[in-house]
Amino acid sequence: MEIIRAKHMGFCFGVGKAIDICREVMADKENKKKKVYILGMIVHNEYVVEKLKKEGFLEITENDILEGKDNLQEDDVVIIRAHGTTKQIFDILNSKRAKVVDATCVFVNVIRKNLVEMEDKGNEIIFIGDKEHPEVKGIMSFGKNVQIYMNLDELKKATILPEKNYCLLTQTTLNKKKLNEIKSYLEKFYKNVKILDKVCSATQVRQEAVVELAKTVDILIVIGGKNSSNTRKLYEISREINENIYLVEKADDLKIEWFEKKEKIGITAGASTPEEIIIEIENRIRGIFNE
Ligand code: F3S
Repeated sequence: MEIIRAKHMGFCFGVGKAIDICREVMADKENKKKKVYILGMIVHNEYVVEKLKKEGFLEITENDILEGKDNLQEDDVVIIRAHGTTKQIFDILNSKRAKVVDATCVFVNVIRKNLVEMEDKGNEIIFIGDKEHPEVKGIMSFGKNVQIYMNLDELKKATILPEKNYCLLTQTTLNKKKLNEIKSYLEKFYKNVKILDKVCSATQVRQEAVVELAKTVDILIVIGGKNSSNTRKLYEISREINENIYLVEKADDLKIEWFEKKEKIGITAGASTPEEIIIEIENRIRGIFNE
């Protein structure tokens, strides 16, 4: 039996940075006596969130804040997760005079900035992404009148008027292949849509690496949180190539029968999956074969 890791997998820059920011905030003497909250899941991984809670971080949700159910006091620290949040939440936190530490990934912030700038220049914004995803909700909240579509099929039903100028932006985790299909479609039928390709390269390299790996292994284990969009996409892409793909969050999710008569085991992990979980799963797989 051989375990082969994808060339690129696990924590991305933005997630690593958000967790570093949390630790820096906690280590700061100024914050020693303060309550330090994390807004929602700092990253889409239950294990990481639980670990931070054990270190003393408190969790607060957007709904708590919107419904006035939070107990926030002036000077309490609130760390904004890697995916960012909405303008409304920033405004409420500022009005409560909480100390906001923005750990939103720089790549998400770039899209947010582009959206505002392009709207200010008179463009209509077309956005491709999952409107229920926190990253998308956050970015969209800074726009005035954004049209959002999940994919090319939905986009084809959009009304794009020849007399207007448009700008297309996307969620950072959009599959590069899908983006290229969207680009080809728009370039063919519309000359008035400026396409800003801001798909995060961390996502892209992980997707390319998993495609390569899925071709060569008997079974592929994708490790990541159930709510993690980039993990799900790694699963979907590799599933098109190899039918023995399994998505797991923790070692206990592994099933012995998956590994029967399998020799080459591929492993990949979403951008919010910590190394300790990956190692635990690799060890559990070795244990299955030893038994
Ligand atoms: Fe940022 Fe890309 Fe990670 S957008 S949070 S570096 S997947």
